[in-house]
Amino acid sequence: MTRQNKAPAMKLPYFDIKRQHDPLRGAVLEAIEKVYSSGAYILGPALREFETQYAAYIGVPYAAGVASGTDALILALKAAGVKTGDEVIVPSFTFTATALAPLHLGAVPVFADVDPVSFTLDPVSVTRALSPKTTAMIPVHLFGQCADMDALGAIAAEKGIRVIEDACQAHGAAWKGKKAGSLGDAAAFSFYPTKNLGGIGDGGIVTTADEPLFRKTLQYRNLGKGLTNAMVHDEVGWTSRLDSVQAAFLSIKLGRLDVLNDERRKLAARFEKALKGTPLILPAEVPGALHVYHIYVVRVPDGKRDALKAHLAEEGIPSMVHYEIPVHSQPVMARHRPRKVPLPVTEALKEEVLTLPFYPGMTGDEVGMIARAVRKFYN
Ligand SMILES: Cc1ncc(COP(=O)(O)O)c(C=O)c1O
Repeated sequence: MTRQNKAPAMKLPYFDIKRQHDPLRGAVLEAIEKVYSSGAYILGPALREFETQYAAYIGVPYAAGVASGTDALILALKAAGVKTGDEVIVPSFTFTATALAPLHLGAVPVFADVDPVSFTLDPVSVTRALSPKTTAMIPVHLFGQCADMDALGAIAAEKGIRVIEDACQAHGAAWKGKKAGSLGDAAAFSFYPTKNLGGIGDGGIVTTADEPLFRKTLQYRNLGKGLTNAMVHDEVGWTSRLDSVQAAFLSIKLGRLDVLNDERRKLAARFEKALKGTPLILPAEVPGALHVYHIYVVRVPDGKRDALKAHLAEEGIPSMVHYEIPVHSQPVMARHRPRKVPLPVTEALKEEVLTLPFYPGMTGDEVGMIARAVRKFYN
């Protein structure tokens, strides 16, 4: 019997963490053993060591390890003074967590549009989203590229509002030579395993140069306990601490971050060469930005995104859509009635974006397989 639908000869993984982690195995197991034997599992020396290393890497004096990127956003916003009834400007073209953070504090996310090239907050749209209730904005360094922090910083300075960077996808990215995480009042990073600096579980960190904000964050992550007397609780806090095993792992991986990011940049150059001349609109590094390609997102013009996605799947190439539902259209937002700012770029992008498999350790043959499948689709 002949098969109608031939299975692809080879299936490419969408993501393969083993390629990053296998070379670290010995050092990681040794570090975990050390934490295990120490008995210091929470707020121990491994965490302090990692926080010191990460703050130095980002170029800020302070870093506070927390339980996730979402918590990092919530705690940083709260430590920056965001409270019930405030408005916080966020992009709609982002991961939902960016907008959940203000909601957890009783604040209202107000959605602004993004730039069609960088996919990051459009400063002109931000000015439309401002109101007397605006107390903060969250620029997202989406897919590994920084937002225009000069223009956004100027708006924030003029209006006296706080800037909390969502750097969850941008470990090691930079804007005009300064690292993501050092460009606002505070920043939130995620260590979710797929991130550029991904852990072996959940985790996050807040970076800042603002000492009072840092001290508040330390309290909020630890049930609101006083910093000098832990028996005194004078804030409503959370249990949101990065644990020692994660911290020990991340210390080791941080030593590899620049190498991994460099590999991502080289891989992006390879993709660009391989996909040149196809109708796809490829990611661009905007002037001033150092892109660390957290994921590789192309735009598929002429309404062909879903057809290309299906074709790639038939060719053994999985792909994803970041993000299919803009955050302002998520059901959870309907209950919060955010003020409406036009979002034409966000609405257009949701129909066009496609995320191709992309990760350190990917081979030239694998890039070639993707490029051939794309060309086959257009031919
Ligand atoms: C842009 C953005 N913001 C926030 C988060 C939330 O991070 P986490 O999953 O660690 O809570 C993520 C990642 O998941 C993200 O990509």
